[in-house]
Amino acid sequence: MTAKVDKGVCIGCGLCSSICPSVFQMNDDGLASVFMNPVPETDTESVQEACNNCPVGAISIEK
Ligand code: F3S
Repeated sequence: MTAKVDKGVCIGCGLCSSICPSVFQMNDDGLASVFMNPVPETDTESVQEACNNCPVGAISIEK
């Protein structure tokens, strides 16, 4: 699985990095990015959860 944050869509709510801090991190610009691709097997569930719960749908996943 690989994950991506669309920076044009992310509003910096921080939910993804609190759900899955080992994959998503907040940058100095206040927006999230993915710093672990491909996503480790152990994190796929929480990345999926972050994707499902991002309020603006900024996270996309490729399996
Ligand atoms: Fe941005 Fe969505 Fe994460 S708004 S900070 S990608 S939960």
